[in-house]
Amino acid sequence: MVLQTEFAQIRNKTLYIDDVDAMDLVKQYGTPLYVMSEGHMRYQMNELKEKFLDKYENVLPLFASKSFSCLEIYKLAKEYGIGIDCVSAGEISIALKAGFDPHKIYFHGNNKLPSEIEYAITHDVDHFVIDNFHEIDLVEEIATKLNKTIYATVRVVPEIKAGGHGFIQTGHKDTKFGFSARHGIYLDAIQKIINSHSIQFEGIHCHIGSQVFDLYAYVSAMKRFVGFAYEIYDKLGVMVTKINAGGGYGIAYTKKDEPLDFEVITTEIMKTIQEGYEKRGWDMPMVLVEPGRYVVGNAGITLYTIGTVKEIPDVRTYVSIDGGMTDNIRTCLYDADYDGIIVNKAEEPKTLKATISGKVCESGDIVVKEVKIAKPEPGDIFAQFSTGAYHYSMASNYNQLPKPAVVFTYKGKSKRVIRRQTFDDLIYYDVNEDYQ
Ligand SMILES: Cc1ncc(COP(=O)(O)O)c(C=O)c1O
Repeated sequence: MVLQTEFAQIRNKTLYIDDVDAMDLVKQYGTPLYVMSEGHMRYQMNELKEKFLDKYENVLPLFASKSFSCLEIYKLAKEYGIGIDCVSAGEISIALKAGFDPHKIYFHGNNKLPSEIEYAITHDVDHFVIDNFHEIDLVEEIATKLNKTIYATVRVVPEIKAGGHGFIQTGHKDTKFGFSARHGIYLDAIQKIINSHSIQFEGIHCHIGSQVFDLYAYVSAMKRFVGFAYEIYDKLGVMVTKINAGGGYGIAYTKKDEPLDFEVITTEIMKTIQEGYEKRGWDMPMVLVEPGRYVVGNAGITLYTIGTVKEIPDVRTYVSIDGGMTDNIRTCLYDADYDGIIVNKAEEPKTLKATISGKVCESGDIVVKEVKIAKPEPGDIFAQFSTGAYHYSMASNYNQLPKPAVVFTYKGKSKRVIRRQTFDDLIYYDVNEDYQ
């Protein structure tokens, strides 16, 4: 069993998260329930601060907020002085409502809508990670109309294959993200930006993929990016003064996963860029990193109530819980592995190899593909570990299941940061109109 945070512990026959008994959380808030250890998130954000932000000059760690986006997390990020990466006007709007500094927001996305660009610029978001030629035209037009300057980092495809599953590999040649380096396409994009009136070219952006455990992939990507910086200077005569090295730092979901240390990755990134820039006698550019899962992934534990237990002789035992792919899509989407326990039997022998299935009307609705647990019975509480990233933020209402509440725990206390949806919420957007 992998409890990848020291903020969660098994003792006194139960599970404690930030010293709060998980069974008390169940009594107080019901299930399914997303529990997020604020202790863990603070610890990770502090790592970004102490081991990157405070350690080097001219750097900024960004929290990739697509991994977990809500008012409270943006408030926490703000407290640690880090920036954020947003991929939609919706994420930006929540960050701004949380009081986040718009100048520390980096706006990502491969198809930013004109309305989103206008929203961002109107609200003083001025750092864009530019993805495509169409976007350059849109940003130029809208920024000029609003009389604003936008600072651009250009997303370039490093052509490096890394990351846990095909769907989360973004740095290889066949990707919808960014400009290809083939045939000098990215140079044409940068030239277009240089020629623009309202966009100022600053640098280049790289994201090789997610759930990456290979240090060499980061080093190779940065070597390639230093090469791009040379080429940009030699061919276009402009300096790359900012390099965003992306995120994707893998975390442990099960015993098989061996995460890299944050400081080891960032040290290698900094060293590779520094060596490359020194060769040309250049000053270091500003360097950004943007991990998401690393900050929140292991903070999350989802609590479910077990219902049906169905043994298919010589095949498997399905243990069904009161949620499913609606609150955890990663197992279906990425074939992800997880670990977990029955909380109220935390110290009983794990005698059953079970498949934890959801209650959604889909055969693929599996929450944990295989896990050894104590003998399950209806009413037991199953805790799934490492559910902090891409769970709540990817949740849906399929089968009209209300989304669970999100509770933060910290120093022996808990608080709701998102309430559970009600049946009324399920029809909140329904309208009764006549045909026109
Ligand atoms: C551009 C970019 N940066 C950062 C991230 C964060 O990745 P992770 O949560 O794996 O660190 C992603 C994830 O999709 C991304 O697309």
